[in-house]
Amino acid sequence: MKVLIIGSGGREHAIAWKTVQSAKVNKVYCAPGNAGMEKIAECVDIDPSDIASLNEFALKNSIDLTIVGPELPLTLGIADAFEKNGLRVFGPTQSGALLEGSKAFAKKIMKEAGIPTADYCLFSEPEPAKQFIREKNCPLVIKADGLAAGKGVFPCQTMDDAMEAVNRILTDREFGDAGSSIVIEEFLSGEEASFICLTDGKTVIPLPSSQDHKPVYDGDRGPNTGGMGAYSPAPVVTPRIHELAMNNIMLPLVRTLSSSGIKYKGIIYAGLMIENNIPNVLEFNVRLGDPETQPILFRLENDLIDIINAVIDERLSEVSIKIDHRPAVCVVMASGGYPAEYKKGFEIHGLEQADEIENTIVFHAGTSLENGTPVTAGGRVLGVTSKGKTIEDAVNTVYTAVDKIHWDGVHFRKDIAMKAKKR
Ligand code: AMP
Ligand code: GLY
Repeated sequence: MKVLIIGSGGREHAIAWKTVQSAKVNKVYCAPGNAGMEKIAECVDIDPSDIASLNEFALKNSIDLTIVGPELPLTLGIADAFEKNGLRVFGPTQSGALLEGSKAFAKKIMKEAGIPTADYCLFSEPEPAKQFIREKNCPLVIKADGLAAGKGVFPCQTMDDAMEAVNRILTDREFGDAGSSIVIEEFLSGEEASFICLTDGKTVIPLPSSQDHKPVYDGDRGPNTGGMGAYSPAPVVTPRIHELAMNNIMLPLVRTLSSSGIKYKGIIYAGLMIENNIPNVLEFNVRLGDPETQPILFRLENDLIDIINAVIDERLSEVSIKIDHRPAVCVVMASGGYPAEYKKGFEIHGLEQADEIENTIVFHAGTSLENGTPVTAGGRVLGVTSKGKTIEDAVNTVYTAVDKIHWDGVHFRKDIAMKAKKR
């Protein structure tokens, strides 16, 4: 089989790493990939949002399977376009991808399906939104409806913050058309977890639970990032929470999508907020999480291609997932300045030494090769991932590996998986 993987992050490197292990696969392409993916696959310089060029490439190179990493190509309808040409693709069609592409759509489906989530109201004009905020009072969370690269969510503790968020999204149009309407919702407190499932539109199979670390600094301080680290499993997802997440969230969601005429095949990722043993949904994503995928796929023992084929052929009910019982932890190493402005092009030292550490893989994200040498090329640069007998073991190993790696300005959180250790 020839496989094309779309994307260039740590998630996509982890997908590529699993894909090359499949006995069914003899060639892997990545578009556009990174320096880590270049070691195990052939990288082609096509932007993930350039659906027409990806389509052309897949047809010309007789690609047997395309795995879509990020949400943007899915919301742009890559699955629809590929399927029209008889190409096999892993990821939902455009109508399904709306679950992530529009917060208003996600909320509407949740209401229809009776899925526990924050109460909300939808606005497209600033004045009625501000009137609503005055009536409700803070804390509230204000979200741009469309995709805003993770920057369109404003948890507001004060009225001033809330008014400013409305101005930035609806009046100043900071996020363009993604901000032509907003969702204002109730503020939920608790502990977050990522509950990521496979579905073929009928059967739902959960992957192991995980937890991301969104704020940039230790102790969950500072601005939000794409994710500074993750571990799996997440002990906050107890057997009871798992049962509630399946019965009250995932199964009703897939049933409701299906009865709305949406044949959803691929990944559904529920961002959960857990308090008093109750999970509420913060958001749905239509793809794997980054960095959650790194520890999850490190623990997955099945052939990834078998699972993906079962999803596409709608025989997921035949699959049983095998997971390494050992926990895994991923620490993201980022460019100085990230998530704000940062410089690129710094040489990365110590990759080989880190790779030599047992039960450890260094997944690349924002890296590229300059005359054969890996250099930084993005905000999140590496996702160092280790397994251990216990979460403590995995944490000790991962930070031993992280300490081997260096470049000018590198920063990372030193408390990844602390919450799990406390439990
Ligand atoms: P989202 O993209 O909707 O998941 O939002 C990004 C982050 O904002 C989440 O991971 C939460 O940390 C926070 N967030 C979103 N919605 C809420 C909410 N209703 N209450 C509290 N925090 C929220
Ligand atoms: N790690 C958060 C996300 O993938 O959305």
